[in-house]
Amino acid sequence: MNRSANENLYLPKVAVIDRVMPEIAEVKSFYWRFEDKTEQERFRKFRPGQFAQVSLFGVGEFPTSLPASPTEDEIFFTVRKVGSCTGALHELDCGDKFAIRGPYGNGFPMEQYYGKNLVFVAGGIGLIPLRSAIVYALKNREKYERIQIFHGSKTPKELMYVCTLKSWEKMPGVEGYLTVDRADESWNGHVGVVGSLFKKPGVQVPVENTMAFVCGPPIMFRFVIKDLLSMGFDQNNIVSTLERYMKCGVGKCGHCCIGTAYVCVDGPVFTYKQIKQLGEDI
Ligand SMILES: Cc1cc2nc3c(=O)[nH]c(=O)nc-3n(C[C@H](O)[C@H](O)[C@H](O)COP(=O)(O)OP(=O)(O)OC[C@H]3O[C@@H](n4cnc5c(N)ncnc54)[C@H](O)[C@@H]3O)c2cc1C
Ligand code: FES
Repeated sequence: MNRSANENLYLPKVAVIDRVMPEIAEVKSFYWRFEDKTEQERFRKFRPGQFAQVSLFGVGEFPTSLPASPTEDEIFFTVRKVGSCTGALHELDCGDKFAIRGPYGNGFPMEQYYGKNLVFVAGGIGLIPLRSAIVYALKNREKYERIQIFHGSKTPKELMYVCTLKSWEKMPGVEGYLTVDRADESWNGHVGVVGSLFKKPGVQVPVENTMAFVCGPPIMFRFVIKDLLSMGFDQNNIVSTLERYMKCGVGKCGHCCIGTAYVCVDGPVFTYKQIKQLGEDI
């Protein structure tokens, strides 16, 4: 984190919202910057897959992923309104202030995956924590082999980052596949759960020399893992991020403990093999 030893670990730094973008129902992206430019420069060195603790004055603090990539100019969060803190964040607008601690957690070891195929599988808002790794990989395109992005949602209106997804699909060397559980009049694409895309005619998922990134609701995760294992994926070559209730975010309070790991410092990124070893039932 590059902080001095006597600095208060829990002291968040004030940030200002530059703009707010509605994404899907109850989900908005908040583009922001620190008031202090030095803090901005320090924070910008985050790794894909890390998270931050967001403070809403007088309300509380909550953990959120960093969907922006360190290779992008702007930093943002994409947050679903579910309760008091996320609800308070959703009330904020351009120019409003809040505070942030971080970045925290291990992140995806993207350098370890150089020379590999990358397969991203996201269900619903599971695309939020994967977005950073995808953008990082596309920015460093020559360092990776094939890149495939599979994204599914319940309905077409719940697909995440639709404009960005379309721009990714147009990039050379990127294979993008979308699906919805239930089509509406606007949809003429694939219908079915996200794993059904693996069997779609013309789709060939490479198994050798491939890392699969899987994020989404537990039911989707279980089925996609089953599909990947039956295709021959090694448990060490499947990575995901775990969400746990967090308080400190820095390995002190024990709130996020699962088995022998603290999700806030040992995670949130784990291989499927590690998730199983921790005794996680997902
Ligand atoms: C590492 C990490 C990254 C995350 N990234 C994102 C993100 O990018 N975008 C996003 O929208 N959310 C993300 N979350 C989830 C987010 O932290 C919770 O939605 C938030 O803490 C809810 O706070 P609240 O005060 O609004 O809700 P509360 O008022 O505390 O609770 C409202 C409801 O949300 C449930 N809830 C609260 N916290 C969690 C949690 N950590 N996991 C699951 N359910 C919870 C409660 O059980 C309750 O049903 C992430 C969580 C973690 C641990
Ligand atoms: S949130 Fe306190 S130890 Fe992880």
